[in-house]
Amino acid sequence: MSDFSPEWLDLREAADARARNASVANAVAARFALRGDLRILDLGAGTGANLRATSALLPERQTWTLVDHDPALLDVAKSKLIQWADRHEETGETLLLEKGRLRITVTFKTADLARDTQMLLDEKPQLVTASAFFDLTSEDYIRTLAKAVTAAGAAFYATLTYNGLQKWTPHRPADNQMTAAFQRHQMRDKGFGPAAGPLAPSHLVDQFRINGHVVVEGDSPWRLERNDRMLIDELIRGYAVAVTESGGVDAKAVVGWVNVTRTAAFVGHTDVFAAPP
Ligand SMILES: C[S@@+](CC[C@H](N)C(=O)[O-])C[C@H]1O[C@@H](n2cnc3c(N)ncnc32)[C@H](O)[C@@H]1O
Repeated sequence: MSDFSPEWLDLREAADARARNASVANAVAARFALRGDLRILDLGAGTGANLRATSALLPERQTWTLVDHDPALLDVAKSKLIQWADRHEETGETLLLEKGRLRITVTFKTADLARDTQMLLDEKPQLVTASAFFDLTSEDYIRTLAKAVTAAGAAFYATLTYNGLQKWTPHRPADNQMTAAFQRHQMRDKGFGPAAGPLAPSHLVDQFRINGHVVVEGDSPWRLERNDRMLIDELIRGYAVAVTESGGVDAKAVVGWVNVTRTAAFVGHTDVFAAPP
């Protein structure tokens, strides 16, 4: 059902964790430092990477709702979280995890966020999170979400939203044409209307500011090198598929581009934390 395989999400998890912006993460931790518990809603949760990376910043007792439209990814999330935790217990639909000092309750919900986000916000999360998700959504979706999250008095933390910057090493002249075609593909409808793609971070910042939240933002790029060979190769393959779908670059040029051996890649992302003043 999803365009995102568990293998791809697995491959990117370590690079994502490394890339997260430390200043933005510190602002999140500082905001909740005096609390004992927190209710968190994770949008587009996939296999649960955001919980694994964000929980360390949050209070001891956490209640997470992981939402995705792909139930198969949520099944993988459950097994990966069980593996990740020091101890676990399943009671009905709920998973209880212990990880170091943390006591985490997790429920999994299959829902189409293009339709069901307001219903999930009605459950009164205190923090709405997502990782690598908002570039799939649209400017309209972000506008409505920011309004609803601020109206609910909740905080918001989105990591690893693609911001359009990319650089391949060694550079080839065809990179520019490929990047332009890739950005066009990024802005195709992914179920939320015309996708925000690389403009998503600036929409998030603008909309949360307009609604009166205090916003902290910072870069969280992937800086992939020789040790990230598998991720670089998979990225090149995914770009080639996207560029072919978007048209505008002839098939021979795409094959020539794929066949260049890259020793490094930079992919720009932005992390955004927004909280009531
Ligand atoms: C790039 S993946 C990120 C997954 C996870 N947050 C991570 O960081 O590994 C985007 C996720 O959004 C989910 N998604 C996309 N469109 C959705 C929709 N309309 N409703 C719910 N989930 C959606 C996908 O199934 C996928 O799991």
